[in-house]
Amino acid sequence: MGDVVESSAIGHRWWHGAALYQLYVRSWLDADHDGYGDLRGVIAGLDHLSWLGVDGIWLSPTMPSPDDDWGYDVSDYLGVHPELGTLDDLDRLIAEAGKRDMRVLLDLVPNHTSSAHPWFVDAVSGPDSVHRGYYVWAGPGPDGGPPNNWRDATGAVAWTLDEPSGQYYLHNFLATQPDLNWWEPAVHGEFREILRFWFGRGVAGFRIDVAHGLYKDALLRDNPPLAVDSPLAGRFGLKPVYNANRPETHEVYKDWRVIAESYPSPRLLLGETWVGDFAALAAYHGHGDELQLTFNFPFIFARFTATELAGVLAGTLAQLPAGESPAWTASNHDVGRFPTRWCGGDERKIRLALLVLATLPGTTVLYYGDEIGMTDVDVPPELQRDRMTLGNLGRSNRDRARTPMQWDGSPSAGFTSAMVRPWLPVGDNAARNVAAQREDQASTLWFCRRLLALRRAEFRGKIASYAELASPRDLWVYRAGALTVAANFSGDPAEPFDLGGPVLLSTGTVIKDAPGGITLGPWAAVIVRATGPAS
Ligand code: GLC
Repeated sequence: MGDVVESSAIGHRWWHGAALYQLYVRSWLDADHDGYGDLRGVIAGLDHLSWLGVDGIWLSPTMPSPDDDWGYDVSDYLGVHPELGTLDDLDRLIAEAGKRDMRVLLDLVPNHTSSAHPWFVDAVSGPDSVHRGYYVWAGPGPDGGPPNNWRDATGAVAWTLDEPSGQYYLHNFLATQPDLNWWEPAVHGEFREILRFWFGRGVAGFRIDVAHGLYKDALLRDNPPLAVDSPLAGRFGLKPVYNANRPETHEVYKDWRVIAESYPSPRLLLGETWVGDFAALAAYHGHGDELQLTFNFPFIFARFTATELAGVLAGTLAQLPAGESPAWTASNHDVGRFPTRWCGGDERKIRLALLVLATLPGTTVLYYGDEIGMTDVDVPPELQRDRMTLGNLGRSNRDRARTPMQWDGSPSAGFTSAMVRPWLPVGDNAARNVAAQREDQASTLWFCRRLLALRRAEFRGKIASYAELASPRDLWVYRAGALTVAANFSGDPAEPFDLGGPVLLSTGTVIKDAPGGITLGPWAAVIVRATGPAS
């Protein structure tokens, strides 16, 4: 596979102004009828994405794995999981996507491997093994127990004792996901090779898992206490000061960015930067020399109000280095789906959220099913498949947002054949599915398609300028490039408001041209052609 052909319409940084689409491969489309989605299924679904107007797809983990964490426990960084397909399938997927002017991003997991990875198998064979130093080992703490107070993502002690050696190894996630030791130069060398291997096959970039992880404090100091837990501040009463967000990690991304940008079509590094502080988030862009995009978790966890969301925009853009692009998403395989979290399934709110996502400057990432307003699915405990959140009180089960794509109204939702039981139960596909919404030009699916077409025409290849405009309470009004957007985050009609130019798109019939300007109905939003120069 050669380099991705650069289309002149896309521009040098193809992700600027782009709409990406996160596709959970196991749940997208099952071509071999085993109940799990696969790469041939992704190929079969590409026409839907092309019709929708996405510029690139990010595939959830595709590498071989024992699947304790559904691919986030990698046992071979240079292969394809046999249940999902073959390297040939992946090559074909990249080629087929390319024919439709779409790029393919893979998921890279550099913070930890699977305990089944040959590096770890060798590492546990003894303290003198070649790969021992690839992982984080430590002797018991002063009380003879674990080396420090760190907890893993399930709330358990983050250290597991290797009895033969008397040393503990670190795992910030499951015990079968040992953390790599980034103080070890050979680990850097391995990942440079991994990047080059996939970039050389035409992979357009990576979403980087736990991008705020990698380096751990060299002294393995205790994390300080935290009074109130929150998804961004920390959990289990501890602030993640020493087991994440270490300054040395930035050097890794400087190194990787040079590699990513050495290709005629620059490759994209999109970080899962799980931080709550805008300065810390922006720091992962360095001086325009680290990650090119960073997921914005303050946006995801903001309440669905004009004030909070506008505040996140302002806070983020104030910190980003010049020329760097923000990235926006509202749903993913961990945090759940925005049509439930923000919108409670209310169609008006779902369209409002989609309109905002499609008109923010930078890069927007939709999650599979967002385009039809797919909601979370209440998966009963006996059908749950996510070990990380199974029986884990206080943490929502992640299976709720990983259920099969709802292609049609049939019992298996068109995800797999009628006789096959999908790996997770199907949601309410009678209420929302692609086939029915394709038939109805007034559907959310068509609305989303119109939004992405408008976005592409206005923003592609650019980071649109952004300015918040003064507005009545509960309205978020902003200028993005040559568009003015007004969104009413309230169940009451807004005051009439003069927005200037002609209406290009709106969430529904609730907007009237009134003498005093436009009146936005409850949870309505509108895009107009801006008049006057951008501020
Ligand atoms: C990231 C992934 C999540 C996974 C974890 C450990 O947060 O998105 O699904 O469990 O990393 O790899």
